[in-house]
Amino acid sequence: NAIPLSDLLEKTCKTIRSLVPEHLSSPRIGIVCGSGLSSLASSLREPQFVEYSKLEGFAESTVPGHKSTLAFGLIGPGEGKPVVAMLGRFHPYEGYALASVTYPIRVMKALGVQKILITNAAGSLNPKIPVGTIVTIRDHFALPNLAGALHPLLGPVTSPSHARFLPLSDAYSPSLRRLAFLAAHKLGLPDDATDEGVYAWVSGPTYETPAEGLFLRRSGADVVGMSTIPEVVVAREEGLEVLVLSLVTNMVVINETYRSIKDEVKAELAGNLVTQQETATVSHGEVLEMGKAKAEVMMQLVAEIISLIE
Ligand code: HPA
Repeated sequence: NAIPLSDLLEKTCKTIRSLVPEHLSSPRIGIVCGSGLSSLASSLREPQFVEYSKLEGFAESTVPGHKSTLAFGLIGPGEGKPVVAMLGRFHPYEGYALASVTYPIRVMKALGVQKILITNAAGSLNPKIPVGTIVTIRDHFALPNLAGALHPLLGPVTSPSHARFLPLSDAYSPSLRRLAFLAAHKLGLPDDATDEGVYAWVSGPTYETPAEGLFLRRSGADVVGMSTIPEVVVAREEGLEVLVLSLVTNMVVINETYRSIKDEVKAELAGNLVTQQETATVSHGEVLEMGKAKAEVMMQLVAEIISLIE
């Protein structure tokens, strides 16, 4: 984009303010809805929708299960708190530059957002964290960031108020993580419905090989996904408080040991019967299905967290 970022942001915010009533267009809380989780929109009161196609600087989500709509509305008891929610996000694997992937986060900040709740679908690397668990993220590692090629903050600093070297050791707000577990308790969710863990960001779009799964697990990650971390990094640069909730939609295929084709052939040649085993695979279908099955709980949890925010 040829026009400076600050001018583009001003333009986008102006468009939003021309389309959304004033009492909804300056929310303090932002939400990003991951795969299959866009039904959060149905818990908004006085909802107002703005298609991404109407907004300067916004891309279109090309992933099944993602919409391309910004939603404004009220959540929580009483008058309710104004929120803005991204129904559908962008990923580098769609071919978008990280500046586009993270642009909506900067828009949220420019609208007045101070706290952001980011949801996603993720694969579990931890046998103690089964499918269906909602994981509050406490930390992350991002191989694409460490390797340099795919870091959202590469390039000139975009605002005089931004740090050149941003610390991320405090990226995941302890007080918001506390509210997540208090909210789960208030909703009466069973203890095993929630957990906490470390998110590994991979670029995708392939699911991990068993060796990659084992590598990520041994490196200390509990869940893995292809989104969220660029948004977290930019949210931190913008000074937002961050909470990330990952819904475990599948177990990552991890092989501690491999079936030995060599041994199988030897057994066969020795006249023994060898039963063939199928290799497990992950599909976007199962990811979406679990997203749908748990969308309601995720939605209630997000709404409860928001009502607990001061
Ligand atoms: N790997 C990476 N990203 C994912 C997965 C997975 O298994 N499930 C949902 N998003």
